[in-house]
Amino acid sequence: NQTELLKKFGDDDNMISLLPSDSDFQGKKLYNYQGCWYQYKTLRAVLHFKRNFKPLDTDIIVASYPKSGTTWLKALTVALLERSKDGPLSHPLTSDNPYGLVQSAIGLVPFFELNLYLKSSTPDLTKLSSSPRLFSTHMPLHTLRDPLKDSPCKIVYVCRNVKDVLVSRWYFYSRIENKEAGRSILESMFESYCRGVNYYGPFWDNVLSYRRGSLEDPKHVLFMTYEDLKARPREQIMRLAEFLGCPITQEEIHSGAVKEILELCSLHNLSNLDVNKTGKAWDNLDHNVYFRKGEVDDWKNHFTSEMEEKIDMIINEKFQGSGLKI
Ligand code: A3P
Repeated sequence: NQTELLKKFGDDDNMISLLPSDSDFQGKKLYNYQGCWYQYKTLRAVLHFKRNFKPLDTDIIVASYPKSGTTWLKALTVALLERSKDGPLSHPLTSDNPYGLVQSAIGLVPFFELNLYLKSSTPDLTKLSSSPRLFSTHMPLHTLRDPLKDSPCKIVYVCRNVKDVLVSRWYFYSRIENKEAGRSILESMFESYCRGVNYYGPFWDNVLSYRRGSLEDPKHVLFMTYEDLKARPREQIMRLAEFLGCPITQEEIHSGAVKEILELCSLHNLSNLDVNKTGKAWDNLDHNVYFRKGEVDDWKNHFTSEMEEKIDMIINEKFQGSGLKI
């Protein structure tokens, strides 16, 4: 088994070279660790995280499959935790001061494996500004949980319809690669998602790990969906606040605080903040690449009926018995 291999070889590079590997839609090599496909550097960071991360009881982790609404959930989490007597508009998401880079929704909640443990096997977490500490990840729950052991820290997951995830990823990829979002890219991405051999894939295993976790341990794992957040934002933000241990009071409801937080975290508002218009994220990407349309069912503008049928069949089969719908 893989943990045994790790013990035996000690050295991560050796261990990784022994794992099953395959290629994604662009021919990039992926390695399968604990059922999830990673690029080499990301996997090394995952192993650093697993070995070295020491949780605090108050930690909060925002988890997701890429392009499922991570940025939005990060912003909502920060806004809920930081709301102060002065009202939410004074909170750090609006900042465009010299610390804007760390104070944007993206920078405030660093990724374990794409940021902190990518740069160092033992990052200095005492430098994190937020309290409680906020982190994010795209790892499946079983891998994330390893160093958490019995920690009571809280994990919030956001899930999104795979078809919208794919379209979002297609545009994101095309934008960061400076390519036109052509059909051939979408089609080859589609095939790799269907095979499950794609970055952080298979999609369904990632979702199901958190779905099960939330059912087994609802005090510590909250399962949310992008679609619910869009359809019933007030209800969902109250649910999130309750879970995070900072419930919204009657007074706040009457004073319009919920509305203010939602507006503050809206795509329109966030994407128009100076910090997000001009700032760069951990990966040196412009913050603005994380904001696009933010709509439900954009896939209908891009999928053929064959694509729809094929992926629905796969997801239906994978989600069978989980209570999840497409
Ligand atoms: P689209 O490409 O469909 O527009 P992630 O943050 O996980 O990378 O997900 C990115 C997706 O979330 C993009 O979807 C982006 O537009 C959308 N998004 C980002 N910020 C948002 C917000 N504040 N509200 C709603 N959607 C948001």
